[in-house]
Amino acid sequence: MSILIKNGRIITAADDYLADIFIEDDRITSIGKNLNVKADQTIDASNKMIFPGGIDPHVHLDMPFMGTSSSDNFETGTRAALFGGTTTVIDFVIQKKGNSLYAALEEWRSRSNGKTLGDYAFHFAVTDFNENVRAEIKDMIEKEGITSFKAFMAYKGALMIDDSQMLELMAEIKKYNGIVSVHATNGGMIDYLVAKHKSEGKLSPLYHYLSQPEITEAEATGRFTDMANLTGVKSYVVHLTCEGALNQILDAAKRNQKVYAETCTQYLLLDASLYDKGFESAKWVMSPPLREKKDQAALWSGINSGLIQVVASDHCPFMWENKKMGQDDFSKIPNGFPGIEHRMELLFSEGVNKNRITHSKFVEITSTNAAKIFGMSPQKGTIAVGSDADLVIFDPNEKHTLSSKTHHMNCDYSGFEGWEVTGKCKTILVRGKIAVDNNKLLVEKGYGKYIKRKA
Ligand code: URP
Ligand code: ZN
Ligand code: ZN
Repeated sequence: MSILIKNGRIITAADDYLADIFIEDDRITSIGKNLNVKADQTIDASNKMIFPGGIDPHVHLDMPFMGTSSSDNFETGTRAALFGGTTTVIDFVIQKKGNSLYAALEEWRSRSNGKTLGDYAFHFAVTDFNENVRAEIKDMIEKEGITSFKAFMAYKGALMIDDSQMLELMAEIKKYNGIVSVHATNGGMIDYLVAKHKSEGKLSPLYHYLSQPEITEAEATGRFTDMANLTGVKSYVVHLTCEGALNQILDAAKRNQKVYAETCTQYLLLDASLYDKGFESAKWVMSPPLREKKDQAALWSGINSGLIQVVASDHCPFMWENKKMGQDDFSKIPNGFPGIEHRMELLFSEGVNKNRITHSKFVEITSTNAAKIFGMSPQKGTIAVGSDADLVIFDPNEKHTLSSKTHHMNCDYSGFEGWEVTGKCKTILVRGKIAVDNNKLLVEKGYGKYIKRKA
């Protein structure tokens, strides 16, 4: 099967030009002006932009968490991702304390095998580093293609590891050139504030926000970057939200230590005033919480100065019924937010259209940098001869309104309800197959492929 895409404006992290793209089977085989080739199918992309398929390196599909499970599974989540131009996601396999990494991997495989519509890979979340786990790290990196390992500095008892375990984990991962990522908030400080607020009868979602002030994230981010400096491991901070934490990344850069950083769409576009809506605010209960306008400004500038390389979604949706588990106690509200579907359209509309970022920066933060950092480049994350034909044909002028009534995520509310967006993902290709065309789904469950990554 071959496809010729004619007259599109091709935008990569490096270039912006008009050309045709020729695809044979799953790969791009030539790019050029007025390509003289015979194709099985031709797509006219005049007046459209073409981006590399989006890569969202931070999603939680079908994840057991806080007494329930995230409401998008590998099928519904990757379907929603495709409608929004994200062709590859990286989910987190989470070790159960006391169990092996392989036990968790089997569990995640049973939930994902044959279920996805788009491509996917795994990170590992290590919640209990011990000698048995040490022995499994090498196999995860070299046999299973899982080259990135996340540690939690919060969620004591469930997910958190202490600093000694963190250092051991870092040293082991460094041996095989893997990367350590982190949920960087100070669990002790947060638990202290949660208990204090509860003892004072302060139980609404507002106190979720007030239990995780900026200092809790800044402190943990600094401690993590110091530990990464000591061990020399490649490091990455997930869902960075605030100026204080960004300053820690800058301090690391000043000593010529590279720490990669990711923020999420919601931290760039939404702020803590949403915690003033009574229990409705539970829709935005996530960790870390939304921050202030000054933090949004810091994050946009972090993107442009190169301190932040990736904008992910941290997609972790819960149905409203499940959010209500915390109606009388904010600490029981499942933490997480639906965002996999509109990450790219929101960043284009609010970022590119409002002159906060350039077109090429948009491609970097939504696709190319994640592919490079997480070992999928140049197979993914760019438009080049030999790369997978994962492409988004994008109409930069089409306006639409975001709503839970029309979105594809399995979540009965939207954190961006009523937002008007300019720019729409029209045709999405995954490995040379048209997956979505004009809002119509054309691939089936099981089309998505597991991507083994390289350290
Ligand atoms: O609130 C969040 N972010 N939920 C998902 C789990 C995590 O901490 O990333
Ligand atoms: Zn986290
Ligand atoms: Zn997360």
